[in-house]
Amino acid sequence: MAERPTPYLQVDLEVLEGNLAEMASFASDRGLALRPHAKTHKTAEIAGRQLQSGAVGLTVATVAEAEVFAASGVADLFLAYPLWVDAAKGERLRALTENARLTVGIDSPESARALAAQLPGASVLVEVDSGQHRSGIAAARAGALAESARRAGLDVRGVFTFPGHSYAPDAMKDVAAQESRALAAATASLREHGVEPQVVSGGSTPSAHQADASVLSEVRPGVYVFNDAQQWELGVVSPERIALTAVGTVVSHAGGRVVLDTGSKVLGADRAAYASGFGRLLDHPDARIPLQAEHHAVVEWPHDELPARGSRLRVVPNHVCVAVNLVDELVVVRGSDPEPVDVWRVAARGANT
Ligand SMILES: Cc1ncc(COP(=O)(O)O)c(C=O)c1O
Repeated sequence: MAERPTPYLQVDLEVLEGNLAEMASFASDRGLALRPHAKTHKTAEIAGRQLQSGAVGLTVATVAEAEVFAASGVADLFLAYPLWVDAAKGERLRALTENARLTVGIDSPESARALAAQLPGASVLVEVDSGQHRSGIAAARAGALAESARRAGLDVRGVFTFPGHSYAPDAMKDVAAQESRALAAATASLREHGVEPQVVSGGSTPSAHQADASVLSEVRPGVYVFNDAQQWELGVVSPERIALTAVGTVVSHAGGRVVLDTGSKVLGADRAAYASGFGRLLDHPDARIPLQAEHHAVVEWPHDELPARGSRLRVVPNHVCVAVNLVDELVVVRGSDPEPVDVWRVAARGANT
């Protein structure tokens, strides 16, 4: 049979299942609810596996993602985003609540009132900034916001934060401590305003294993299902735990380097300050990818003999969530057998509204 044309994204089912099981047992051992962020995989098949292995529900970033997962039967969704709800979004949210239990993030009295006008009685979590300075309010102000949301008619169920500054070398422990302090302060602030939090939600992939179960009730890692070059280079996981790669063909040896067809249109262009290049080669950890274009990944090869033109290599994207959103399907293999066992549709691809 003809080989599948490259580049394409491939998932190793054994590694994926190992990652799912590991996070599920970590969370249940600590007494933490696991609510994985589905923006990473965007597929119904992985959502189903997460729920089967004990996840209490899923996290999503957009109404459109919530619509895709609700349609695939997910009954409990947290929209972990400071949504601005206008009439059109309100209508979509109301439709969603017919099939799923929905919770929405708020981080201002204005967004709480806008949500309440469209979806009276909606369940919300107050977003707290634990140090990333992206969205969310200061922990000490969480109670006042909870009170005003309650007055607007919302059901305030607790607090959440995203400790995204865990994406830095040697940051995991300190950032998890900041997350825990911010959530503890926010919880106390809610209580001072007469609101008893039922959900205290945190956890990025780098910080999830440091989550303080005496404060948090729930973690929301997303990337852990596949892992990526960022997790590898930050030391969060070893390369054996990487489940998703872009399969590429060596198209050229220009300049004595290896040129692959896995450019930014399949890998994404994310490159954090600490990254060694534009992704890594899973089977050749000493190789580096200093240059990328839309259809080229230029690899500095660590040995004299270059892999033959026409041969195939597996590239680990820097940021897997972005790569998945670039393709229609994921090709599923088991271990080193290249024969696909399945093909999964990236059902929530481009579901950004
Ligand atoms: C609000 C929120 N929760 C959870 C996550 C998942 O964290 P990670 O991507 O580190 O797995 C993200 C990721 O961006 C996020 O924005």
